[in-house]
Amino acid sequence: MNETIRLLLAHHSNRSYKTDLVPKETLDAIIECARRAPTSTNSHEISLVVIRNADSRARIAEIAGGQRWIAQAPIFIAVVVDLYKTALGVEKAGSEQVFQRSLEGILAAVSDAGIAMAALMTAARALGLGIVPIGGIRRDPQAMIDLLGLPPNTFPVDGVVLGYVAEESPQKPRMSIESFRHDEKYHAEALKPAIEAYDRTLLEYWQKIGRTDGLTWSANMAQHYSTFSRLIKPVAEKQGFTVEV
Ligand SMILES: Cc1cc2nc3c(=O)[nH]c(=O)nc-3n(C[C@H](O)[C@H](O)[C@H](O)COP(=O)(O)O)c2cc1C
Repeated sequence: MNETIRLLLAHHSNRSYKTDLVPKETLDAIIECARRAPTSTNSHEISLVVIRNADSRARIAEIAGGQRWIAQAPIFIAVVVDLYKTALGVEKAGSEQVFQRSLEGILAAVSDAGIAMAALMTAARALGLGIVPIGGIRRDPQAMIDLLGLPPNTFPVDGVVLGYVAEESPQKPRMSIESFRHDEKYHAEALKPAIEAYDRTLLEYWQKIGRTDGLTWSANMAQHYSTFSRLIKPVAEKQGFTVEV
């Protein structure tokens, strides 16, 4: 099988890391891959903040709700939506940037952040590192903004932990292809049976790896998606992001 396809199909997150440092050339190559990723309208609206300082990583682990792998692995890369950068271009061309005040602006920037993050993770894994994406930094976005010294019109969307894996983790099963791939039109009827089957599969998976606290997919979704964070909106607004249109 093609090496890239093999790598993508073997995706899994790692939450156990050695403290071994990552060579500079390896880190540089990973970052170059993310910089080469496309952005909407060639906006370059993503920036990365590379955090190697142990105290900062310990602080981020705390901000993310006690995620010890952030402190353990040698590198944390914060993925920042950066409309500060784009505003400088808009101003240079004699206009005022308003894009950050639209839902379209937020959707475009967040999708670019995801693309950069995917490139980052794939490159890191191709070079033998383990990764885990981290959305937990949004538990306290203001603390991240303060820690990273982020200017207006920026927002720390996610992060990625990078390091050499100490203890490998098994691959988590996915919901069936019918729940994901829809040919020609969306096939809603495929979902309930797929969810039924995946709830069982996931429980078997938790049992197999000895996790007694493992939930079905439905219960996990109920835990996370029956509520929302009230912390993002005020901080995003303070940074300059609103949804006027
Ligand atoms: C945007 C994003 C944010 C995530 N945030 C966290 C996080 O804060 N902490 C964590 O341990 N895992 C986090 N994850 C990892 C997911 O839990 C994981 O990808 C999912 O359970 C599937 O497992 P797998 O990556 O091993 O296949 C995140 C994943 C994504 C894509």
